[in-house]
Amino acid sequence: MILRFDFGTPLHTGACVLSLPVQKDPVPFLTVSALAEGAVTLSLPLGQGDMLFGLGEQVGPVNRRGRRYVSWNSDEFNHTEDRQSLYGSHNFLLVWREKEPFALYLDDPGRVRWDLGWTRRDQMTVTSENGDFSLYLIVPEDGEKVCLDLCAQFRRLIGRSYIPPRWALGYIQSRWGYASAEDAREVAHAHRERGIPLDGICMDIDYMDGFRDFTWDHKAIPDLKGLCGDLKEQGIHLIPIIDAGVKKDPKYDFYREGHEKGYFCRKEDGEEFAAAVWPGLSAFPDFFRREARAWFGKGYEALLDEGLDGFWNDMNEPALFYSPEGLREAFGALEGRREALETGDYGAAFEMLGAVGGVKNAMADYRRFYHETDLGKTRHDRVHNLYGGLMTLSAAEAFERAAPEKRILLFSRSSFIGAHRWGGVWMGDNFSWWSHLKLHLRMLPSLNMAGFLYCGADVGGFGADTDEELLIRWLQLGVFTPLFRNHSALHTRLQEIYRFPAWETMRDIVSVRYALLPWLYSELMQAILWDRMLFRPLCFDYPRDETAREIEDQMMLGRDAMIAPVTEPHATGRNVYLPEDMLCVRFRTWEDRDLIRLPAGWHYVRAKEAEFLLFVRRGSFIPLCRPADRSDYVSTDSMYLVGWLGGEDAALPFYEDDGTVRDPEKEKGLSTLKAGKGWAWDPKGRKLDTAGLC
Ligand code: GLC
Repeated sequence: MILRFDFGTPLHTGACVLSLPVQKDPVPFLTVSALAEGAVTLSLPLGQGDMLFGLGEQVGPVNRRGRRYVSWNSDEFNHTEDRQSLYGSHNFLLVWREKEPFALYLDDPGRVRWDLGWTRRDQMTVTSENGDFSLYLIVPEDGEKVCLDLCAQFRRLIGRSYIPPRWALGYIQSRWGYASAEDAREVAHAHRERGIPLDGICMDIDYMDGFRDFTWDHKAIPDLKGLCGDLKEQGIHLIPIIDAGVKKDPKYDFYREGHEKGYFCRKEDGEEFAAAVWPGLSAFPDFFRREARAWFGKGYEALLDEGLDGFWNDMNEPALFYSPEGLREAFGALEGRREALETGDYGAAFEMLGAVGGVKNAMADYRRFYHETDLGKTRHDRVHNLYGGLMTLSAAEAFERAAPEKRILLFSRSSFIGAHRWGGVWMGDNFSWWSHLKLHLRMLPSLNMAGFLYCGADVGGFGADTDEELLIRWLQLGVFTPLFRNHSALHTRLQEIYRFPAWETMRDIVSVRYALLPWLYSELMQAILWDRMLFRPLCFDYPRDETAREIEDQMMLGRDAMIAPVTEPHATGRNVYLPEDMLCVRFRTWEDRDLIRLPAGWHYVRAKEAEFLLFVRRGSFIPLCRPADRSDYVSTDSMYLVGWLGGEDAALPFYEDDGTVRDPEKEKGLSTLKAGKGWAWDPKGRKLDTAGLC
């Protein structure tokens, strides 16, 4: 059951698809207090064993208790442990306790502070700085698997998640620095030549003409359509980046049109707001306005015409390196401390550093411009967290117009709940650190709770130089995440698989992904179509298991599987907790694998550098297919079943469709594979090999 309560004058954010009546009764569970300047706080005493899950894209543990967070979409490349905001704001929190568990969602596009037992360990407070929001309280309908039930109800409230094309589950190679047709062809060739599977190549900002959106450098890419066509023949899709800021350049048609039609955000005095980002001074489309979205969307449509069918949206928090106003103030502050030349005063040193550092993504700048929302002229900071999601909507609306039948790949850096219906997300600028490999794993379930199922992090790490072992271990996690992309920053070590002596090991890891791809696709699609999570903390599935509550480095995957990646350097195995009997599949290649039957409980499981683990519940199985070097060549005509049936019969719901149709008929795609001792049966007639069943 879901109850809605409104505070102040909430803006229609588009996050929810169910329109529920507004309750007049007092809010249950939470104490509501009004603070100064319109802010509203909700507080709740926390019992000793209470656990808190959710908040989507945030650093830190899966159980969020004991920490504080801020919903404020931030261009933040330093994902350190103390970070309180990243690129997306997902105000869903699940309060799991013995008595009266519930979940809450704050549909609030402004800044929200979450103190989850940080100030006082026995209390949580949630503060909406605007005080204008809808609060949704969800109470369980299923007393047994409470967390799963609360998440499923929430997902019904916010609507079906984005469905990517099937090819987007293939391996994607990306690099900030690919600039030309030659670069793309070379990457394609290097993969194909060595048999490293590949389905996509991301082009970063350097493909553009001077970082101007929807343009490309014609010298470096003389024939974009030809390039797309050639690559597509090899099963490789080109995926260009699109940035939110549009270069302020009167000679650039796209800018000129947006400017003349008044589609950019303006300041209080009506002047167009500008700030520096990659292209230099740029203007920012007012994505809140339908006409502005339609105009921006035409840019995507033009690129679709060139044969492109995938995009990544970036810098859409929006990131602001500085505004001229902000920079002027910083110069003023430096000037005001001129005496520091003589005094060497440490106070002045910090003040000046603060003044210069503070120009980036400054709150003062987010207060300098306005949007036209359904509440009229609205200052940006009050609705900040919606901006990136609305850029995603602009693209999705364009795809709907231009290719209504077709699935187009889209993932974004910034997001808000609602945008999960229009695209996926990647986790932004991580580093080549072991701690960020762990962070990748931990963020998966909270993003899933918020509806973002097509997601993943930059495999290998974006900033800093990766090393071979880290990349191998990271690929072994990436094998299981829907978005499986190797991306790295300019000036860092080249990170393509073929650059490394151990490339064959890495190729074999990626090949396992392709062997698993039909099964992963089936699990992802079932999660999308039936409002489930793909990745879940163990305790969601095993609520009575006290040990399962403490496990944050293993995740349930799909209906019957679990992953436990190695995330420590030099490790040749790891401790794994099994809440029930499971079959451990230890992969070296898709064919060279060990099947180990393990009883419930703790185990130290060996996984040398070239090995990685997948666990399948006893009584179930998973299908593997013969891999190929492109996803459309992976066929399900014949599948190899792997599982521990122990003499019982088992059934697996298996989903398959053509991978391109926008609105698949969900029942049509679903069939049930059945298997027992020495036999297996598929109503659709696919050939099933039972040698891997024990
Ligand atoms: C941002 C993106 C990153 C991209 C870079 C250059 O930092 O997060 O992925 O490579 O911009 O476009």
